[in-house]
Amino acid sequence: MSARSLDAVRDDAGFADVADVIVQFADHGYLADERLATTVFLQAHLEKPILLEGPAGVGKTQLAKSLAEVTGRRLLRLQCYEGQDETTALYEWDYGKQLLYTQLMREKVGALVADAPDLAGAVDTLAGEESVFFSERFLAARPLLEAIRSEEPVVLLVDEVDRADEALEAVLLELLAEYQVSVPELGTFRARHTPYVILTSNNTRDLSAALKRRCLHLFLDYPDAERELDIIRSKRTGLPDELARQLVGIVRGLRELDLRKAPSISETVDWARTLAVLGAEELTAETLSATANVVVKYERDLRRALEALPRMVDPNAVVPDHLHDHGHGHGHGHGHGHDHGHDHGTATPDEPDGAEVRRAKDLPGRHDEAYYGTGTMGPTRAVPAGQGARSFGSRRRPF
Ligand SMILES: Nc1ncnc2c1ncn2[C@@H]1O[C@H](COP(=O)(O)OP(=O)(O)O)[C@@H](O)[C@H]1O
Ligand SMILES: [Mg+2]
Repeated sequence: MSARSLDAVRDDAGFADVADVIVQFADHGYLADERLATTVFLQAHLEKPILLEGPAGVGKTQLAKSLAEVTGRRLLRLQCYEGQDETTALYEWDYGKQLLYTQLMREKVGALVADAPDLAGAVDTLAGEESVFFSERFLAARPLLEAIRSEEPVVLLVDEVDRADEALEAVLLELLAEYQVSVPELGTFRARHTPYVILTSNNTRDLSAALKRRCLHLFLDYPDAERELDIIRSKRTGLPDELARQLVGIVRGLRELDLRKAPSISETVDWARTLAVLGAEELTAETLSATANVVVKYERDLRRALEALPRMVDPNAVVPDHLHDHGHGHGHGHGHGHDHGHDHGTATPDEPDGAEVRRAKDLPGRHDEAYYGTGTMGPTRAVPAGQGARSFGSRRRPF
């Protein structure tokens, strides 16, 4: 990494070069690697959106937040969800306000149509005044239009775009092609300043080739051990450095297991904090097992983690018997009654139930615990009712 050269020619965002992106992001607590920093640097020059794909918790959303901080731009965020339509993404007419105004001006409206000979005439007269009610005053701009209309340069985050339907993707494409939005009643809004657009996806479905083509595409994976350790350090968790290093190794080991939800960076940070608070002086299998529920959030995953941890700490370890008892004391309080795994008293490194493995792999978006289903789960899929309800129903968002 070269030193920041202050007199170098900077682009709009104030980045002299790729190394400067890394430094400026680090100043704001975000540790970007070379590839990511290059993408950010290019975005500023090419005025292209960035599309970040990757598992949950690798810093996709945070990148947009940090970009806003670094560049001093306002952050506008569109959180995508299934069934979302244009009115929450682009704009809608503020019906309540229109109604309020007509109520308050009832007399004025009455006077306006007083001379009309009949109903049709009154409607015609009112229609002539329509433009008053479909003016900017009554326009409720949502994040996409807001980003285009903004007087100041902004960062636009379109988060988890894979959750939106294809119809919304089409709206996005249109916007990203021209950085403009047409409102039939008002005309076309063109961006004063090209927004920095960041789209994120957790890969629950494929995005259209057209969208990918339009963007600088980057797959963001879990960081390498050094960078993850740097991130842990930067969060000042209070865990001694040597233990943090070991912990990063352990978490990386857990990610190798076939877990339904692999631990993310923020979970490593949480684990480090937890161990620091408990005053851990070394990372023993016992200490790690007792706190593994901080990073592993599904019962089956926890079981696998508990089986694997002793050998991660010490390759020659003999797994003590009590660890086979998959930790009912660990506070994972989800009360689903389906669990086929309760008969696993004879836990082996091999999966006792092949069907369960397949089911887990079939789950869309298993990278992301907050995934709330697409309704695309075909009736042919052999998932017992209880399991389906747990996997999808309970993860549905409240809106
Ligand atoms: N490169 C990074 N530098 C610093 N912190 C990071 C980095 N990547 C992830 N994090 C931490 O992990 C958390 C989760 O990241 P987030 O952006 O929410 O993940 P995603 O959107 O990919 O699911 C962030 O809030 C941040 O604290
Ligand atoms: Mg996110």
